[in-house]
Amino acid sequence: MKIRRLPDSLVNKIAAGEVVERPASAVKELVENALDAGARTISVDLRDGGAALLRVTDDGHGITAEELPLALERHATSKLARDEDLDAIATLGFRGEALAAICAVSRFTVTSRARGAAEGLRLGGEGGAISQRLGVPGEPGTTVEIHDLFFNTPARLKFLKAPVTELSASLRTIAQLALAHPATQFRVTNGGRAVLTAPAAADLRQRIGALWGWETTERLLAVDRAEHGVRVAGWASPPDVTRGSRDDVVLIVNGRPVRDPALLQAVLAAYRPLLPRDRFPLVVLAVTLAPYDVDVNVHPTKAWVRFRQPRLVQEMLVAALHEALRRPGVVPSLGAAPTGPAAVAEALAPGAPPSEQAALFQEAPAPYTAARFGRVLGQVQETFIVATTDDEVFFLDQHVVHERVVFEQVRAQLDAQPLASQALLFPETLDLGPAARALLGRWRAPLERLGFAFEEFGADAVVLRAVPTLLKGDEPKRLVEAVLEELGDPKAGEPTLDRALAFVACRAAVKANTPLAPEEMERLVADLELTETPYFCPHGRPIVSHVVMRAAAARRGEPARIMRAAAARRGEPARIMRAAAARRGEPARIMRAAAARRGEPARVMRAAAARRGEPARIMRAAAARRARDESWRGYTSDDA
Ligand SMILES: Nc1ncnc2c1ncn2[C@@H]1O[C@H](COP(=O)(O)OP(=O)(O)O)[C@@H](O)[C@H]1O
Ligand SMILES: [Mg+2]
Repeated sequence: MKIRRLPDSLVNKIAAGEVVERPASAVKELVENALDAGARTISVDLRDGGAALLRVTDDGHGITAEELPLALERHATSKLARDEDLDAIATLGFRGEALAAICAVSRFTVTSRARGAAEGLRLGGEGGAISQRLGVPGEPGTTVEIHDLFFNTPARLKFLKAPVTELSASLRTIAQLALAHPATQFRVTNGGRAVLTAPAAADLRQRIGALWGWETTERLLAVDRAEHGVRVAGWASPPDVTRGSRDDVVLIVNGRPVRDPALLQAVLAAYRPLLPRDRFPLVVLAVTLAPYDVDVNVHPTKAWVRFRQPRLVQEMLVAALHEALRRPGVVPSLGAAPTGPAAVAEALAPGAPPSEQAALFQEAPAPYTAARFGRVLGQVQETFIVATTDDEVFFLDQHVVHERVVFEQVRAQLDAQPLASQALLFPETLDLGPAARALLGRWRAPLERLGFAFEEFGADAVVLRAVPTLLKGDEPKRLVEAVLEELGDPKAGEPTLDRALAFVACRAAVKANTPLAPEEMERLVADLELTETPYFCPHGRPIVSHVVMRAAAARRGEPARIMRAAAARRGEPARIMRAAAARRGEPARIMRAAAARRGEPARVMRAAAARRGEPARIMRAAAARRARDESWRGYTSDDA
């Protein structure tokens, strides 16, 4: 065959194959053009998610009548003037091929009126060929209308998914651009119905609120870190606010949403010890760096970028997120805690919606100092440790506290040597089915580092020779069953050692409903303060809930009054009575009321012993009870 130059129409179709993969890619290019034109308002109207129709209208600077035909040509752009410009790109577009590519595979009309021009011009056609030219009146700005995308590329057309799928892809693209450009107003319809509306926002947080809802947005943690010429700023969810997919991890580099696997991995790594399997954070982070430190000219869709110092940027992301995740705002306040010590939360503020809580309980204004949880007061329900500083009361779930402590202590130690192992006096033969056997094979290495020892025995039996010393109290066979059940199939890229370790830590940790001596609690809280991540257990459950006394009331030392006032404000008699019981600000009474409400006599009695809310007495009572000390009985009957 002879070598020929391809005709322009074919070249454009081929280029379109790279740039326009699906309606969402066309939407992306057109919205980017509108943003580059300085639009304040961008409207996107879709039919079938963009497959049947997509129209993008902006109020940007427009295109002059002379230049409009050129804009539809390939390699025609106003965004690069000199070679050097390519090294420091400040616009979203620069390749000059999007309009040509989109028009090559659709029926199109492009209408634009440049600012200051007397009228606008409309060009229409199909398959890249212009067949209509019309002067039109109209507002300054540009409208690109694309019908029947891929009508002349049947192969592509076949790959279009259901309209709802294409719509959600288009919306995801628009939402990401909207997050990258909060000041621009976005209105999106599909089939005439509004599907996304984001008014011009003052800042990123407002924009997130418009897109993700305020309930979620209020929980997000501020992220802001600048170092070495890189700034990472935005919002990130605490570990108890998660999604089932990575769609809501939005990374923006110099105003451009990017798909950068290494950056995404950096974000997930920062959350790794905090999130359960299959859960992903909500994150919007804008990375700003000098344009010549990032190369955006690496892929036709410009969604991939290359950094001059990729490690630096990744480390900045991790550091910025770590910083945010360790600030006290991470701790859910009472009433808002989804898991946590729900019973206690309920006792203090029964059923109060979070909005009412907002006025009562506020986030701590200053970062915690050395003793961030203050003094241990005692144990509630043999499950929660209560600690207090001058103006906060903390409820720490003893099991998750211990879990976090064991997890971090063991992990630090593992770097030096495997975990201590306890050989079984009588090795156990495990009869595992083929599936469990395969599973064990996949977890064997991390489990053995943690102190398990297995040995092949015949074709289908495995012998368990040792278990971690930490777990020597557990029934060995059941332990292995539980490991396999809990860990399940490892996922690609999953930190298997951390997961196995989380299992061991959970098993080794003190359980709920276990009495603890005051020294034990103090030790536990002190150890927790030394951990890297004191607010969440290795599975992502919150460890701590806290109440911040409102400044004025706290000055008078009457925390309970605030709660009573809240109950009174809601006008519920039972609540007011319960709150009244706590009138003199005695925490123990509140707890007793809670226990009484659940009708548990033992707890009521114990709480009664602590009626005057004196920490020493609560502790004494608990210790006494464990010792089954006669004097304690006297003490209760005296008080009850
Ligand atoms: N919505 C718009 N408003 C103003 N100018 C536009 C718009 N869309 C496209 N243009 C002009 O058309 C040119 C070509 O657009 P495009 O093919 O997307 O290439 P690029 O954006 O890479 O420059 C742009 O450089 C710009 O000058
Ligand atoms: Mg463009």
